[in-house]
Amino acid sequence: MGIISTLRKLFHREGRYRYEKRSLKRNTSMSTPETIEPTGVSTEGSSRNQSSSNGTNHIFRDGRRYHGDTEVAYILPNDDDEADRVHQQHWLLRYALQGNFSSPVKKQLEEGINVLDSGCGPATWTFEMGETYPRSKIYGIDASCVFPENIMPPNVEFVIGNIAKEIPYEDNFFGFVHQRLLILGLTDTDWTNTLAQLFRVLKPGGYIECNEACIQELLTVGPNMKALQNAFMGMMVARQIPFLAASELEERLKKAGFVDVQVKLSKIPLNHGGKVGKLLWEDYFHVYTNARPALVFANPEWEDPEVYAKLLRDSAEESKQNKGHILWYSVHGRKPFDTTTDE
Ligand SMILES: C[S@@+](CC[C@H](N)C(=O)[O-])C[C@H]1O[C@@H](n2cnc3c(N)ncnc32)[C@H](O)[C@@H]1O
Repeated sequence: MGIISTLRKLFHREGRYRYEKRSLKRNTSMSTPETIEPTGVSTEGSSRNQSSSNGTNHIFRDGRRYHGDTEVAYILPNDDDEADRVHQQHWLLRYALQGNFSSPVKKQLEEGINVLDSGCGPATWTFEMGETYPRSKIYGIDASCVFPENIMPPNVEFVIGNIAKEIPYEDNFFGFVHQRLLILGLTDTDWTNTLAQLFRVLKPGGYIECNEACIQELLTVGPNMKALQNAFMGMMVARQIPFLAASELEERLKKAGFVDVQVKLSKIPLNHGGKVGKLLWEDYFHVYTNARPALVFANPEWEDPEVYAKLLRDSAEESKQNKGHILWYSVHGRKPFDTTTDE
């Protein structure tokens, strides 16, 4: 089956969840985080106590909806349009990377473990893992209430929280922790705090996996793409978000105390090389279109959507001609069995 028909089929299924989410929005008695009582939640406090947000105190800018948590650095919107993009990105990544994870945890997942999806977003990965591994229990955490709240596999549940502050689960609770695409959400200090939290909630011998994209390679694709990348990286730096977080993952995981750290690198073509390249360009285009208001500081001419649209078209052409790609880092590591001896 081709990727497009696979995506259509999956989107058809995913539409069911989206419909549920939209129904919830119309319903003023929308379930609040207070109604979610996950097993294993630390008795010392919940994320709602730790965060200045309850996940639904959104702010609106340029017709888009964003999280309203002053302590969360995340750049992108959290509305339905963004949820659609993140869903599509999931199918693309699963296809391009040939699976949902690279850690050696398949057997444990089949037998049944607790899994955390850190920064789960609209929870496509979370749901799929719940359906594929019914004996495991999958917990999703996000700063925004963007995950479906009523219809979900029985072994999936969610909590609102800022992963860089306090992950509201007991120590040594999870057998596997997964975190993907937080590159636009965590400052340097947030990365340190988040990895310390993930280390704490992971069982000795349990695996952590972080998946992130490195956009730095795109600097050499051509002058238009370079201008875009420089603006994007400038915006990240201004917000103290490290733009090299993907290539730093190995070091960051080791520094947090994880052992057996392994890096899997995948080159995903951007706007060339068939369907994956085309779909990655669509995703890139979507992100950079959404980011325009935050990038005009670099070039006031981009205030004009037409000028900016031309820049994106020219960047697409450069990437096609010069075979641009995004380097994808899948990095996994293990919490030592004996954390006192470092093994
Ligand atoms: C690009 S989405 C990725 C979603 C999901 N991991 C995936 O790969 O499909 C990033 C998500 O991280 C969440 N996020 C960003 N910073 C966060 C923080 N400090 N604590 C919790 N969630 C955060 C955002 O709300 C958003 O839903």
